[in-house]
Amino acid sequence: MSVTEIAPDIYRISTFVPEIDMQFNQFLVRDDEPLLFHAGHRAMFPLVRDAVASVIDPSKIRWVGFSHFEADECGALNEWLQVAPNSQPVCSMVGALVSVNDFAARPAKGMSDGEVLHTGRYRFRLLHTPHVPHCWEAGLLFEEENKVLFSSDLFHQNGDVEPLTESDVIGRARKTLVDNQAGPFANYMPYTQHTDQTLRRLADLKPKTIAAMHGSAFTGDGERALRDLAVVMREVLAS
Ligand SMILES: [Fe+2]
Ligand SMILES: [Fe+2]
Repeated sequence: MSVTEIAPDIYRISTFVPEIDMQFNQFLVRDDEPLLFHAGHRAMFPLVRDAVASVIDPSKIRWVGFSHFEADECGALNEWLQVAPNSQPVCSMVGALVSVNDFAARPAKGMSDGEVLHTGRYRFRLLHTPHVPHCWEAGLLFEEENKVLFSSDLFHQNGDVEPLTESDVIGRARKTLVDNQAGPFANYMPYTQHTDQTLRRLADLKPKTIAAMHGSAFTGDGERALRDLAVVMREVLAS
């Protein structure tokens, strides 16, 4: 377990699982209304809660956000809602209406594409990105003050890699996609007629930091990284 501040008051909490050679990351934003992006697995909840407690009082969390309805994204959602009595899930409108409002102990704030959530100093724009990285309800948050893109499974890199890097992560992300194609996780992400356009839209945001759920966060030319990722995803997934 490691906790690293990857941008001002934005902390990456990371757990490496050696059996599958993969990190699971959550991102904690310290602000007037603290936000946790990715609830994490239920089984990891005690570990992640203790990591959050090294930065803020976990009961003060106001928002628990995530991209799509999967166990690593939101398995521990109800544990967080219990530990933080004023907290509420936040996700895409489709996510809220289709799954989260049924699963969660309290209803979600379902956000429309382009809608902004203000947490104090920071503001988060919800990009509804159906099937990018995957699932109909997929959404990503973009923090506009520091230009941090919370990219969920995009830029997934296997291995016990460094918390934050300025080096190109595209080679590692490509290797992970290629390796997945040869095993039980083949077709991890779909490649649809909307994929390239969605990635170009993300690139146009010109992120300075990309907070990936699995692997290192990247700081640098995020626009370039996303355009490179679009090429890699077409190469690996579209054939
Ligand atoms: Fe996923
Ligand atoms: Fe994931």
